[in-house]
Amino acid sequence: MAFRNFKMVGYVIYGRGSFNQLDEIIAPHRKGGAPMIFLVDHFFTPASDIVKRIPAGGNDRIIYVDVTYEPKTTYVDSLANQLKEEFGTVSGIIGIGGGSTMDLAKAVSLMMNNPGSSADYQGWDLVKHAGVYKAGIPTLSGTGAEVSRTTVLTGPTKKLGMNSDFTPFDQIVLDPELTTNAPANQRFYTGMDCYIHCIESLNGTFLNEFSKSYGEKALQLCRDVYVNKSDWDADSDDKLMMASYAGGMSIAYSQVGVAHAVSYGLSYLLGTKHGIGNCIVFDKLEEYYPEGVKEFKYMVEKNNIDIPQHITAGLSDDDFDKMINVSLGMKPLWENALGKDWEKIMTREKLKVLYEQRQNINTGRLISLPSPFGHLTP
Ligand SMILES: NC(=O)c1ccc[n+]([C@@H]2O[C@H](COP(=O)([O-])OP(=O)(O)OC[C@H]3O[C@@H](n4cnc5c(N)ncnc54)[C@H](O)[C@@H]3O)[C@@H](O)[C@H]2O)c1
Ligand SMILES: [Fe+2]
Repeated sequence: MAFRNFKMVGYVIYGRGSFNQLDEIIAPHRKGGAPMIFLVDHFFTPASDIVKRIPAGGNDRIIYVDVTYEPKTTYVDSLANQLKEEFGTVSGIIGIGGGSTMDLAKAVSLMMNNPGSSADYQGWDLVKHAGVYKAGIPTLSGTGAEVSRTTVLTGPTKKLGMNSDFTPFDQIVLDPELTTNAPANQRFYTGMDCYIHCIESLNGTFLNEFSKSYGEKALQLCRDVYVNKSDWDADSDDKLMMASYAGGMSIAYSQVGVAHAVSYGLSYLLGTKHGIGNCIVFDKLEEYYPEGVKEFKYMVEKNNIDIPQHITAGLSDDDFDKMINVSLGMKPLWENALGKDWEKIMTREKLKVLYEQRQNINTGRLISLPSPFGHLTP
């Protein structure tokens, strides 16, 4: 098909306190005696306010999911198999947490109705059957996982999503109150995922008016929060949640770019998490996104954020090869960033230099350019 006919999220509720409506939202989706399963980010505990407000009754189950590492296919399979063994089927899967929990909820829902392992469905349009009812309730803003048609999983051979029309949530609950207490660094890394989505989408060759409309709005919201405001407040949470949504909508009809392609390699080899990995990489991409990187450095300074350096120090040639293979495998991302002839521009050698920028720990030479702090008019 020349134009992608893309499936969107079923229902969206937005607003402070909208989480309180969860009971009535999910009630029509309860099927006989089959339970609703709440997959809750392990940051929360039974003592957390949000957990106390989960409308779990009867044989419903709250499962705390371990998101120390980004979701693996083995973890998805074990959660789905455990539920199938215990209940046969369930009424639905409700994910409450950051992007990792969103992805787990989507993937477990799909695996309740599809045979085999989630690793069999890593790719494009391989999922054959709709999953059980699924709802996403983000507690961090930025990834856009709440609106996307994918669920990023690390499998035995690749880190790739289950991209399909069955993947988007049936319902999302966007309640900015739930993001209130996120730590500043984490909130920044995840928020920058959104900022980077916008820069990559708006500077990409796949750009069209649809992506541009959402991307520009999301970018403006990110700037409001990280450049224009001096303190974090409720309005910041409100704005960043809508930035995440709009940023996700922007890349749905275009693509991400260099930062994501390079950070996928880091994540595959070193397990670097998505948000922080994107920040580590984006920090070094002046050549590709000069204005965006300048503003990014300003936001890092202004918001007092730590961006790790030299994380590839001490890696072997073999390790670099692995990262390069994973990264260059993300062909649509490179094509979006650099055009159809991207392979002539981003050679293995050039990419290695980019990865090595973080390696010069022993030379004492800091590769990062001087911060533009103070030179930028927000
Ligand atoms: N499906 C998609 O379209 C898509 C897009 C981008 C990223 N992702 C995925 O999203 C994941 C990254 O998501 P993320 O950046 O939201 O982080 P995350 O979900 O990995 O969580 C990061 C940390 O924050 C904690 N946390 C979550 N909510 C919190 C809160 N309110 N307060 C304090 N701590 C909280 C978690 O316990 C975890 O320790 C990656 O696995 C990435 O692959 C998916
Ligand atoms: Fe991202």
